[in-house]
Amino acid sequence: MTSLTATPAWRDAAGHYDATAGITLEELFAADPQRAERFTRSAAGVTIDQSKTHLTPAALASMFELAYQEDVLGWRDRMLGGERINSTEDRPALHVALRTPELGRLTVEGQRVDTAVDAVRARMRELVDAVRSGHPWGASAGVITDVVHIGIGGSDLGPRLACEALSSPGEDGPRVHFIANIDPAERDAVFAGLDSARTLVIVASKTFSTLETLANARAAHGLLASALGEAAAAERFVAITGRADRAREWGVADERILPLPDWVGGRYSLWSAIGLPVAMAVGMDRFEALCAGAAAMDRHFRDAPAEDNLPLRLALVDIWYTNFVAAGCRVIVPYAHRLRSLPHYLQQLEMESNGKSVDRHGQTLDYATAPAIWGQQGTNGQHAFFQWLHQGSWRVPCDIIAVREPGGDRDALAANAFGQAAALLAGRDQETLRRADVPESLRPHRAMPGDRPTTTLLLDGLTPETLGALLALHEHRVFCQAMVWRINPFDQWGVELGKERAGALVPVLRGEEDAAEWDGSTRGLVARWRGSV
Ligand code: F6P
Repeated sequence: MTSLTATPAWRDAAGHYDATAGITLEELFAADPQRAERFTRSAAGVTIDQSKTHLTPAALASMFELAYQEDVLGWRDRMLGGERINSTEDRPALHVALRTPELGRLTVEGQRVDTAVDAVRARMRELVDAVRSGHPWGASAGVITDVVHIGIGGSDLGPRLACEALSSPGEDGPRVHFIANIDPAERDAVFAGLDSARTLVIVASKTFSTLETLANARAAHGLLASALGEAAAAERFVAITGRADRAREWGVADERILPLPDWVGGRYSLWSAIGLPVAMAVGMDRFEALCAGAAAMDRHFRDAPAEDNLPLRLALVDIWYTNFVAAGCRVIVPYAHRLRSLPHYLQQLEMESNGKSVDRHGQTLDYATAPAIWGQQGTNGQHAFFQWLHQGSWRVPCDIIAVREPGGDRDALAANAFGQAAALLAGRDQETLRRADVPESLRPHRAMPGDRPTTTLLLDGLTPETLGALLALHEHRVFCQAMVWRINPFDQWGVELGKERAGALVPVLRGEEDAAEWDGSTRGLVARWRGSV
């Protein structure tokens, strides 16, 4: 198969890059007074403004031609139609069916998807109502005041983000806590001060084999059993997993095991039973509103013309900066404290999906794929890395995410979001500094090059619906990138080796096995860990 970089559409887009690389953002705006409108689109309560990126209309058009050449929207339809596009695991990728009913009207492994989704939702609602109603839990008669969610990666990041974004202190319902790391410090902090009799523990793991999650679950069980006895402790465990057999063997009763289907990847699973802690925190109706917001974005992704398709537009500009500008990262700055975990969530979504170097046929790629995704909420990030953004030696794209909630200090928050993007565009040259009587010796140090690209995403408030739409937008953004890059975004073989080596090293660190087979550095570190040097 012809390499992507040798195809007509790629070469044409690359030609547009070569022809426009020297044009600044300010020149682009000067050339087209309608640029802001031309590069702004809205759907499902989310507005994206891509006008502060370096693409001319013709360059963007060439990127659409690349999408057409790679049949991105055809692949979309295959995904939505339940085809096994996760080729290395021979599975469909049907996370959309978890929230968009009409996309669940298909059968996988002999089971109607929508029926299975509805059944799990009903069981979630039962558990949520039992906890939020304040009724005694099980035979041990404790009213649940605290829910501890144990999971990691996709079994943690989505629910954690959604709980932070949507729940407010003091509102009805239990307090929800999250434990992910195997470092006991996290679970010790969570369990300190919790009343075991009023605590429910959710063990979330698609495989029910993740080292961190099982270690934390064992520790939680030990705490509850020592306080309540085995029987009462066992009543307080709920499992969310694709391996009910393992959860049962571990000791979770069938009526408290919620299934995860094979056709949902971990980082795409917020909309499944993995969302249980969100429903516990804010109620089942608001969890379903979260899913409805994602469904609105799904319908937009399915139905909107390519040129108005928000996920596709974002993906094409991402590819422009990754493959033509060769920016090795993208910075995420959500201007909302309640979205402080969004960079972490997007790190897994984008880098675990598209951090690949072979195509869907196993051919090694001769082009870049997922950049590094990092960031921090604004305005905090302005006091951490905005010096780098404004005057550093790297010109990288930055996503500014703002939430439209006018009034009070949120006007100032928005002023920072929009003002920083404007400053990154305009910069400040030495002539301006001269006119401001800045000493000549200081002007080089105080000048800012500007011409630094940003994309602004503006949410119409922060509601379950807009959060759902934002996250679904990014799932589809990642998918569109992957289809252009000809990679499979739904597997994650790259996480295996590190896990295996870590597991093999535990007995060595404990002195139960010899370190001879390990590299010299690891042997030295083992010796230091064991205090023998
Ligand atoms: O990071 C690797 C990974 O497999 C993720 O894809 C997944 O979300 C996470 O570990 C947790 O896996 P599980 O839900 O099976 O515990």
